[in-house]
Amino acid sequence: MTIRVYSEGALAQAAGKLRAGELVAFPTETVYGLGADATNKDAVAGIFAAKQRPSFNPLISHFPDRDAAARHAVFDDRADKLAAAFWPGALSLVLPKRDDSTICDLTTAGLPSIAVRVPAHDIARALLRAADRPIAAPSANRSGRISPTTAGHVAASLGNAVSMILDGGQCGVGLESTVVDLTTDRVVLLRPGGITAEQISAVLGCDVVMADTDDDAPKSPGMMSSHYAPGLPVRLNATTPDRTIGDEVLLAFGPDCATGGFAQVLWLSKSGDDREAAANLFAVLHQADQCRVKGIAICPIPDDGLGIAINDRMKRAAAPRG
Ligand code: TXA
Ligand code: MG
Repeated sequence: MTIRVYSEGALAQAAGKLRAGELVAFPTETVYGLGADATNKDAVAGIFAAKQRPSFNPLISHFPDRDAAARHAVFDDRADKLAAAFWPGALSLVLPKRDDSTICDLTTAGLPSIAVRVPAHDIARALLRAADRPIAAPSANRSGRISPTTAGHVAASLGNAVSMILDGGQCGVGLESTVVDLTTDRVVLLRPGGITAEQISAVLGCDVVMADTDDDAPKSPGMMSSHYAPGLPVRLNATTPDRTIGDEVLLAFGPDCATGGFAQVLWLSKSGDDREAAANLFAVLHQADQCRVKGIAICPIPDDGLGIAINDRMKRAAAPRG
């Protein structure tokens, strides 16, 4: 891992690393972000490996301006008003993902929506311009640690899990952006942050619903147990076909995985590489759901490294539908 103080050269190097699929931590006005090319599933799998997050929450994609974001998300009137009022700034908008968006399923956790943000930090925007692609970036700390506001915090928390830290000095107060969901007729606050519900309400001239206090409002998707539930029934820890179910598609992992007797086999990773499996996870779940079979069987996946987050998602996929 290299720490480089901001300069033109450091910026070019950071942009080159992002384009090559490496992880680069960079300052924003809220916290340091752990950035990866949002269109590259292997790179995004690296974010989850570095953060040691036990689950795949959808990530925010960062852009240099509103028009770049609009190439991947559908902006309605409300989104345009909020972007005009608060961008660049500490507001993330959850919008429908465009059909032609190249952002990978791992970035959006397989959802049809996408969170987009234009940060207000000069170095962040210069980097986003130079990288010339959407950058997925959660806070640059291991899961459960405090949000990093200096390059030193990032280095202490992530160490060699990150390829480079672009040092832009102290970057903010450690309060992450406000997340607002605009995918329904209502305006739902998913995460409070620097920009308040009152400010949003004043711009839009309507109420803002709190996701946590209103039972009817959609919760942050990472918190819903049946989030990403395939249409077909899902069976965990499958080692042999279950004839009482009928034809099954097996999601297979590792060289010792027994595939005999299954109607179809889809590989998460033949070699048993948890990072490759994470990168393939959502595409394989979607593919399995399209198979002409009666059920999805998932072979045992070791519960360590990214396997913890993969198993978490598989358990949600298998959870009773509500
Ligand atoms: O201040 C920030 O926003 C920092 C800096 C680095 O920009 N970034 C950040 O990113 O906090 P991240 O990826 O950790 O934030 C993810 C939040 C979670 O609360 C997640 O549930 C929500 O955004 N989110 C992302 N995509 C979503 C989606 N499609 N639907 C609903 N919520 C989404
Ligand atoms: Mg965070």
